[in-house]
Amino acid sequence: MLVIANWKAYVEDFAKAKELLAASKKASRRSSCDIVLAPPAPFLSALALGNKSAVAFSAQDVSYTEGGAKTGETTALMYQTAGATYAIIGHSERREAGDTDAIVAKKLSHALAHGLTPILCVGERERDSDGRYLSFVREQITAACAPFTTKERAQIIVAYEPLWAIGKTADHAIGPNDLAEMVLYVRKVLSELLSGKNARHSLVLYGGSVEPTNVRELAHASQVDGFLVGHDSAIREDFVKLIKELS
Ligand code: PGA
Repeated sequence: MLVIANWKAYVEDFAKAKELLAASKKASRRSSCDIVLAPPAPFLSALALGNKSAVAFSAQDVSYTEGGAKTGETTALMYQTAGATYAIIGHSERREAGDTDAIVAKKLSHALAHGLTPILCVGERERDSDGRYLSFVREQITAACAPFTTKERAQIIVAYEPLWAIGKTADHAIGPNDLAEMVLYVRKVLSELLSGKNARHSLVLYGGSVEPTNVRELAHASQVDGFLVGHDSAIREDFVKLIKELS
C-alpha cells in the first residue's frame, strides 16, 4: 500500500513538521506501507535532504512554468533538488484556484521531465444518477494524459478523489462497494490509454476523508493500491493509527 500524507496548509510550523516526520519514520519501520509525505514547500528540503529512512517526499503541486522571471513560483526542478521524488498534480484545491486541464498537463510534463512521479488527482464534484460523473473522470484522465507517450503515461499514479468526500469525516467518504467499482473503472480508462502490460502496473489511489476507522475496509473491499490522506495525515496519532490499520 502506498500512503501519501498531504499536509496541505495544516502544518504551519516546523516543529510540528519534524514531529510528524519522526512518527512517520517509526510507523514505516513497523509497516509494509510505503509512506510519502507532502509537506508545505518551505519545509521540504530540511525534512527530506539527508533523510535516510524509507519515508519518501512529495511536492503538493509544481509550477506550470520552468524557471526564469516568475516571482513566487516553485518549479519541479526546485522540488527535485529539495528531495522530492513525487508530485501531487491537479488536486481539486489547485483546480479550484484556476488549474485547467491544460495547466495540469503542463505540470505533469515538468514533473516527468525532472524525475518526479506524478500523482494525478481526478474526481467529480457530485454524483448524478445518470452516471455522468464517470465520463467526467474519464475526460479528466484522458485530457491530462493526452500529450504523453505510453511510457510516460505509465509513470503517472492516478488518485481518485471525489470532491464531495474531501475534508469531511469517514462516514462521508466513499463506501467500499463504490470504491471497488471506481478503481475498476479508472483501471479500464488507463488500460485504454496504455498498452496492456503498463496498465496492469499503474497505481490507483483513493483520497477523501480516509481515516483510521474506514481505511482497512476500503483497502480490503477494493483493488486500490493506496490512499491520499489529507486532514488525518496532519494529526500524528491518527496517521500512526491509520498506517497500523493497513499493516
Ligand atoms: P482529506 O483530504 O483526507 O482531508 O479528505 C484528501 C485530499 O484532499 O487529498
